[in-house]
Amino acid sequence: MNIAIIGSGYVGLVTGTCFAELGNTVICVDNNSEKIAMLSNGIVPIYEPGLSEMITNSVKRGRLMFTTSIKNAVASSDIIFICVGTPPKESGEADLSYVENVSKEIARHIDKYKLIVEKSTVPVETGEKVAKTIKSNQIANIEFDVASNPEFLREGTAIADFMNPDRIVIGVESEKSEQILRELYAPLKAPIVVTDIKSAEIIKHASNSFLAAKISFINAVANICELTGANVEKVAEGMGYDKRIGRSFLNAGLGYGGSCFPKDVSAFCSISRKLGYDFTLLDTVQEINEKQMRIFLKKVEDALWNLKSKKICVLGLSFKPNTDDLREAPSIRVISALQKEGAIIHAYDPKAMEKLNEIFPDVKIANNSYEAAQDSDAVLILTEWNEFKEIDLVRLKRLMKRPLIIDGRNIYDPEKMNELGFEYISMGR
Ligand code: NAD
Ligand code: UGA
Repeated sequence: MNIAIIGSGYVGLVTGTCFAELGNTVICVDNNSEKIAMLSNGIVPIYEPGLSEMITNSVKRGRLMFTTSIKNAVASSDIIFICVGTPPKESGEADLSYVENVSKEIARHIDKYKLIVEKSTVPVETGEKVAKTIKSNQIANIEFDVASNPEFLREGTAIADFMNPDRIVIGVESEKSEQILRELYAPLKAPIVVTDIKSAEIIKHASNSFLAAKISFINAVANICELTGANVEKVAEGMGYDKRIGRSFLNAGLGYGGSCFPKDVSAFCSISRKLGYDFTLLDTVQEINEKQMRIFLKKVEDALWNLKSKKICVLGLSFKPNTDDLREAPSIRVISALQKEGAIIHAYDPKAMEKLNEIFPDVKIANNSYEAAQDSDAVLILTEWNEFKEIDLVRLKRLMKRPLIIDGRNIYDPEKMNELGFEYISMGR
């Protein structure tokens, strides 16, 4: 099939590249000309394992192209995926202006039947607004359909998630659009849930909110564990064997970050409120997540007392491992708070250093964990990269001024850390 992807960020690039890999012809659009120039020169602007190789391969085969022109992309495609950002407004609701802008632009260039698919995460009833916007901006009265096909990939494992999804959700209003999307996704051999557009939109917000709620739940439990001397890891294990609960997303820690959970939970709250229902459960999910960060910072302050001029080593900056994405990363909040108290921050992350430097030019960037930990008063673990799990702890301890590790991701065994002579503080154990 001929596919246009509008918005070549994490989701657009992965979606476009995977569709090309499956044998389709894909044209990826972005209005960021720098991004398109990089992609056209074989440089992938984001770090996502395996993506660069897959892009090179599809470009070579002539199945993947990049452009800044929505006009050209619309002209050469039958299906158009909207993959632009839907960032949070100050009020918490989703900013849909990018979706509106591209809908208008698509409308102006429709010359024959097109299926326009919202893949961006959007509040319920956005599909109706997209359809209305297209209708009122069309030059001629040409048939089109709008569909919703939310994306469930995770950063860091995006290609594997896209190629082996738990399910594919298709929200449609016509048999024709259902047929097209069923055919497009047939090679993936995953269960396909076909529904109306509104239900598809809600499935996405409800799924992310449910996962965020699971994380806040275990973080609340972690705090009870701390108050009683219980161990949250064991509690999660004991709960997780119950198939109705499951062990995944029960990792206690600093709380959830990233470009999606924080914004989607608050957007789901906002749209619910707008519709006349107060989703107070989700308000609490957000409160617990906020509080978790303060609990972590209190641990640092309790252990180090005055932070002024203390040298603190931060290991892990990205919001989760295997990505360079710093959007809503806990590291940003932690570093800002510590700097405000006068601490000197040395940091290391396998992939997110460049991006951190853009935000905090005064943070000392190290080449590896050991360099960052040299003469430090404490090491903070903020992201559970494998590299940190495999660190030579004996060497690390020798380099530190004080052998204090405050672990926001529970990556080490407390007993072993005590045996090695560390002061080791973690979350809920
Ligand atoms: P992103 O910011 O990485 O990418 C969005 C891209 O759209 C940017 O490159 C931007 O330049 C481009 N864009 C904006 N306006 C445009 C226009 N008028 N014309 C062409 N391009 C334009 O965002 P993302 O992380 O890929 O997320 C996109 C959407 O997918 C969001 O709604 C998000 O919630 C959803 N989503 C993201 C993930 C994820 O893991 N990142 C997973 C599932 C769903
Ligand atoms: C999440 C969802 O998992 C995807 O299904 C969804 O498509 C995506 O959001 C989206 O809509 O954008 P992502 O944000 O890439 O994916 O990463 P996750 O692995 O879900 O982690 C999100 C945050 O939760 C991270 O900060 C992570 O550290 C935290 N987390 C996750 C925990 O604190 N505990 C856990 O047990 C799991």
